[in-house]
Amino acid sequence: MQRIPQSVIEEVRQKADIVDVIGQYVQLKKAGKNYSGLCPFHQEKTPSFTVTKDKQIFKCFGCGKGGNVFTFLQELEGITFPEAVVKVAEFAHVPLEGIDLTPAAPVDTAEAHLIELHEETAKLYQHILLNTEAGAGALEYLTKRGLDTETIKHFQLGYAPASRTFLTRHWQKNQKDDELMRKSGLFNENQTGELSDRFSDRIMFPLTNPQGKIVGFSGRRLADDPEQPKYLNSPESLIFNKGRTLYHFHEARGAIRKAGYALLLEGYMDVIAAWQAGLGNGFASMGTSLTDGQIHLIEGLTSEVRFCYDGDAAGLHAIDRGIGLLKTHSSLKATVVLVPDKMDPDEYFRKYGSEALVHLIDKQLMSPYEFKLAYLRTQFDLDRPQEKLAFLDQAIAALAAVDSLIEQDMYIRQLADEFSVDAQHILSRLKDLQQQSAAVRRPAVSPPHKTAAAPRRISQIERAEQWLLYYAIKEAHVRDYLRQLSEVHFLHEPYERLYLLIDSFTAQGGVIEPSRFVDLLNNDAALLQIFTDLMEMEFAESTPQVIDELLFVIQQGEIQTKIEEKQIQQKEAKQMGNADLEFQLTIDIINLRKQLSHGLN
Ligand code: UTP
Ligand code: MN
Repeated sequence: MQRIPQSVIEEVRQKADIVDVIGQYVQLKKAGKNYSGLCPFHQEKTPSFTVTKDKQIFKCFGCGKGGNVFTFLQELEGITFPEAVVKVAEFAHVPLEGIDLTPAAPVDTAEAHLIELHEETAKLYQHILLNTEAGAGALEYLTKRGLDTETIKHFQLGYAPASRTFLTRHWQKNQKDDELMRKSGLFNENQTGELSDRFSDRIMFPLTNPQGKIVGFSGRRLADDPEQPKYLNSPESLIFNKGRTLYHFHEARGAIRKAGYALLLEGYMDVIAAWQAGLGNGFASMGTSLTDGQIHLIEGLTSEVRFCYDGDAAGLHAIDRGIGLLKTHSSLKATVVLVPDKMDPDEYFRKYGSEALVHLIDKQLMSPYEFKLAYLRTQFDLDRPQEKLAFLDQAIAALAAVDSLIEQDMYIRQLADEFSVDAQHILSRLKDLQQQSAAVRRPAVSPPHKTAAAPRRISQIERAEQWLLYYAIKEAHVRDYLRQLSEVHFLHEPYERLYLLIDSFTAQGGVIEPSRFVDLLNNDAALLQIFTDLMEMEFAESTPQVIDELLFVIQQGEIQTKIEEKQIQQKEAKQMGNADLEFQLTIDIINLRKQLSHGLN
């Protein structure tokens, strides 16, 4: 489709009223100067979806979605921005003569060609698996593991034959561009520049980007050869960024929304087992711990992440780390499913069947604290008094992360009962620990909150980032102040991006008008959510002290995060017996702690 001129977009925006357009899809009731109704983007019984007429934006306080009239249609009907403009234009009777509405030709970019090469390669690998003699062994292996053709097709599985020149010759014969092949990550290059296949004798798991396009592969070795890595991944490329890819995430989106939670698994085979058991909301982070980029993909979709990793020591360690990450880096609530007998979900599924797996995942939920206790129990020998004390100390320290006081109280009683200690003693130890960390962590910032916009659950640091952005939008002198600081760094990537957008937009003299500014956000779910949240808030004017305190909280949070990362590395170094590294990390942590207490002064 041809580009629609900015003037036409403005005309459409002026003539259409968001209340009328959304009113076609949602039954809206007037409530004060706004309108409210049941959110079309998630299931709810009481209305938390709001349309603000004077700002011409919508916001759901339940699921967080928000935007302008174009974003609404894009999201609801899964259409592009120009398509949404056309729809609104029809609605508002704005003639669009001379604008060609046929879809544009496929884009001719390196990215598009690379994706095409991957899509075609996946088809080829699948053909080998399902229809050829070369793939018979691999097919038999998958069948033995309980995968039928439907499953193989849903996951687009394939087989890369043992020959090291199969794919190379195939694409050379079909005259694929040599440069493109070299950039794809599907081939190895020797010293003389000759190409060979990166994947051979491997079951191929295609990896998709958030748009569902194949951008890489992970290949599982078929032969039982410990010399070869079990899984081999595509290298990072123009189209493949491991930190922003989650296995089966695109396909799981609908099911995640429906189920109300995201099922995070450890391995590809676990995702497949869950899908076969009817749990389509499963996806995996591909053998690495979660990254910020991945967390934000999930945040746009749901508020709960359910961890169901392998039940062995490595799995427990990874869950512990994952929960910590979600707590510091997101508003997502974590729950945990422990697979018994150190099995992984796939083994459990094969041993006990679909119903048992579904029951486990649906009914056997643990809170993060219950998990922490179970995890700590595996690390201490509770028959020995010394270890029992060490266990209790850590169990009490972990209570500080429990937000609800009632829940805290419940766990304190449990600990007191089990270990026959006075609940008061546990409580006072907890208070001591909390005071120690509060002194460095939580300077008191509380700009007066004038309106009650229901905030989603967010961390203290994120709250500070939110307020700072709020003032950067509303008050020109705050922007000027921030500009003359040597650097303003946000801990959460979307806040940083939004800040940079606001900064450059206003630097060119732009005035931030909610409905127009939304267009600049390019339908990015995280940015839209943050921006529309901000638009619904109203705080009293800032003072220089408030701004400095906000900056302080963010900076402290950054150091605290670094310390937590180093502590994890330190623990790992210790387990690996790398004393030098452990020592270096201890020094780093001490230095970071010094920065914590000195901070601003
Ligand atoms: P697992 O070894 O648990 O794999 O590793 P799995 O999915 O259960 O596979 P099967 O059942 O042995 O066939 C969990 C995940 O860790 C990553 C993969 O994403 C895998 O699914 N991994 C594992 C790698 O990236 N490389 C490896 O060499 C091993
Ligand atoms: Mn497995």
